[in-house]
Amino acid sequence: MHRYQTIEVAAQGPVLHIRLNRPEVRNAFNGTVVSELQQAFAAASTEASVRVVVLSGNGKSFSAGADLAWMQEQAELPKERNQEGAERMARMFLSIARCSKPVVARIHGHALGGGTGLTAAVDLAFCTEDCLFGLTEVKLGIVPAVISPFVMQKIGVGRARALFLTGERFSGAEAQRIGLVQRAVPEAELDGQVQKAVDELLSAGPAAVASSKELIRAVGSLSLEDAIPVTSKWIAELRATPEAREGFSAFLGKRKPNWIG
Ligand code: COA
Repeated sequence: MHRYQTIEVAAQGPVLHIRLNRPEVRNAFNGTVVSELQQAFAAASTEASVRVVVLSGNGKSFSAGADLAWMQEQAELPKERNQEGAERMARMFLSIARCSKPVVARIHGHALGGGTGLTAAVDLAFCTEDCLFGLTEVKLGIVPAVISPFVMQKIGVGRARALFLTGERFSGAEAQRIGLVQRAVPEAELDGQVQKAVDELLSAGPAAVASSKELIRAVGSLSLEDAIPVTSKWIAELRATPEAREGFSAFLGKRKPNWIG
C-alpha cells in the first residue's frame, strides 16, 4: 500500500479507512493533504477488494478545513498558479463525491470550512451531537467557494444562504436536522453507528451500490419526463446482471446472497 505523509490509509477486510492525520493543526488540509486524499480516493475507486471507505480524522477534531497558512501562501502565487491550486482542491472533493465505492464519514470535534465541505461530499456522514460545523469562511474574509456545490447539493440553497453569509457555527444535532449528516449521536455511540452503516452497505450488492450512486448523479438533473428513458434502461440492464440474478435467487431461495465469488 502507498505511503502517505498526511493521511493514514488502512484496509480492514473490505473496509478502507482513510484518516486525516495532521492532529497538531486539527487536520487542516494543505496541498499535500489535497493530493494525498485525491490519490487515496482514486485508488479506492479502482481497487476491487475495497467495498466501503470510511473517512475520519485523528486527534481532537475531524478537520479545521483549509490550512490557513497554506491559503496565505497560495494567495501570494501568480494568479494562474493560485487558481490551479484551488482547482486541485475542487477535484479532490469531486474524487470523494464520485468515488465508485460508498464513502462514510465519522465526524467528531470540529468540522469547519472545508471540514463541513468534506462532510457534504461523502455519501453518509455520522457525527457526535456536540461536534461543531460551520461555513466559517466569511469570518476570515473569504467564501466557501470550492465546497459550495457539494454543500448546496446536500443542504439546499435556502440553508446555504443563511449559513454561508453568517458563518455561524452549528452543532451536530443541527447538522442532522438540516440533512448535512445522517445522524448525530452521543460520542460513545459514534463508532457503533458508523459500523451499522458499513454493515448495511456490505450486505448490499456491490455493483448495485455503485450503480445507485451513478443513478442519483444521472437522474438528479432530469425532469420527471426526461428521466423515463434513462431509468427504464437502467433497471432493464441492472436486473439482467449476474449480481441481480444472485440477489433474486437468494431471496426466492430463502438464503443470504453470495455477492463475491
Ligand atoms: N489552518 C491552519 N492552522 C490551524 C487551523 C487551520 N484551519 N485550525 C487550527 N489550526 C492550528 C492552530 O493555529 C493551532 O496551532 P498552534 O498550536 O501552532 O497554535 C493548532 O492548530 C491547534 O488549534 P487550536 O485553535 O489551539 O485548537 P482548538 O482545539 O482549541 O480549536 C478549532 C480547534 C478548529 C476550533 C480552531 O483551531 C479553529 O477555529 N480553527 C479555524 C477553523 C476555520 O475557520 N476553518 C476554515 C478555514 S477556511
